[in-house]
Amino acid sequence: MQSPAAIRVELGTRSYEIRVGAGNLSALGRWLEPLARGPRVALLTDPAVDALYGEAARASLASSGFSVATVIVPEGEEHKSLAGLARVYERLAEVGVERTSTLIALGGGVIGDLSGFAAATYLRGIDFVQVPTTLLAQVDSAIGGKTGVNLRVGKNLVGAVHQPRLVVADVDLLRSLPRRELVGGMAEVVKYGVILSPSLFAYLEENRDLLDALDRDALTYVVRECAALKAKVVAEDEHESGLRAILNFGHTLGHALEAATEYRSYVHGEAVAIGLAFAVGVSVRRHGFPPTLANRVIRLLESLGLPTCLPAEIRPEALVRAMATDKKKDQDRVKFIGVEDLGRTRFEVLSLGELEEALRAA
Ligand SMILES: NC(=O)c1ccc[n+]([C@@H]2O[C@H](COP(=O)([O-])OP(=O)(O)OC[C@H]3O[C@@H](n4cnc5c(N)ncnc54)[C@H](O)[C@@H]3O)[C@@H](O)[C@H]2O)c1
Ligand SMILES: [Zn+2]
Repeated sequence: MQSPAAIRVELGTRSYEIRVGAGNLSALGRWLEPLARGPRVALLTDPAVDALYGEAARASLASSGFSVATVIVPEGEEHKSLAGLARVYERLAEVGVERTSTLIALGGGVIGDLSGFAAATYLRGIDFVQVPTTLLAQVDSAIGGKTGVNLRVGKNLVGAVHQPRLVVADVDLLRSLPRRELVGGMAEVVKYGVILSPSLFAYLEENRDLLDALDRDALTYVVRECAALKAKVVAEDEHESGLRAILNFGHTLGHALEAATEYRSYVHGEAVAIGLAFAVGVSVRRHGFPPTLANRVIRLLESLGLPTCLPAEIRPEALVRAMATDKKKDQDRVKFIGVEDLGRTRFEVLSLGELEEALRAA
C-alpha cells in the first residue's frame, strides 16, 4: 500500500522526509535508493524486532540493489550504553561499513538512539535512516535527530544531534507491540494534542475505540499528525534553544518518577501520563487552564489505559530531589511547561519549593 504524501522536516540541506503509512516497510529500499551514497547498508536491530521484521526489511533493501549486513544489539535500555556502542562500532568495522554506507535503525527508541549516535560518530559521521517500530519511536524519538547513550549516572548524557536522511514509519508494525508499550506511546500522542493540536485531541477522544482495535486508518492518522507536529517544532528549533522544550510537557515529573522508581515500576509513557495529569493540574491552578479541559485530559488518559495518579508510597521530597538532578534544571529552579488552553503552552520557572507544594496539592 502506498502512503499518502510524505511529511518534510525542513532543515535546509539536511531536510528529510517522514513516510507514515500501513505497509511502508516494503517500500524502504525504493525510498532509500535515490538518497543513498553507496550500495552498502547496515541494518541495526534487536533480536525481537529482527525475528519479526528483519526479513521484510532485508528483502525490500535487496530488491533495490542494496547489499545488507545485519548488526544485532541485545534488547533493552541497558545496551544503550558506551559498552553497547563500542560493540556496534566493532561490528560496523567487521561488516565493512564505509563512508558511503547507510546505517538503518530498525527498532524502538533504544535502537534509534544508539544507531543514530553510532552513525553520527563512526568514520566521523555516516548517513542513517530511522525505521521506528514502536509507537513512541514513530511519533517521537525517530524524528528530530537527538541521538545518544546513557551513562550510569544518568540517561542520554552523551550524544549528538545527527538528523536521519529518511524516516519510514509503518503502522502495521505496531500490531505486534506489547500492549503496555503501545498504550505508553499513547501518552506522547495525548501530549501533542494538549500542547499543539486541539483537533488531534478531539480526534483521540472520539476515536479511542478505533485506536484500541489498532484500526490502520486511525493509527495512520494519529502517527502522521504527531510526526508532522514534531517535524514543525524541530524545523523551528533544532537545538532546543526555545520552542522545542514544549515537547517536554509532562516530562518534568515523568522523568523524576522514572528515576525515583529506578526505571522499574513504569514504562516511560506511564510515567509521562502521570506527569501530564500533574502538569494540567498545575496549569489549572497557575495558568488559568479550564478545569473542564483538565478533566477531559485526565479522562482521555484513563480511557486509554494510562495511570494519572502519583502512587501514595512515593514522597514528594523524593520526586523534587529527582527533578533537581534532571539535566534540564537550572540550579534550584525548574523550567516548567504549562498550558493556558489546548494548543497554547506557557513556560514558567518554578523553585523546588513551589514544585514540592504543587506535588502536595496534586
Ligand atoms: N531521541 C529522542 O528524541 C528520544 C525521544 C524519546 C525517547 N527516546 C528514547 O527512546 C527509548 C525508548 O524507546 P521505546 O519506548 O521505543 O523502547 P524500546 O526501544 O526499548 O522498545 C521496547 C521493546 O519493544 C520491542 N519492540 C520494538 N518494536 C516492536 C514491534 N513492532 N513489535 C514487538 N516488539 C517490538 C523491543 O524489542 C523492545 O524490547 C529510551 O531510551 C528513550 O531515552 C529518545
Ligand atoms: Zn517522552
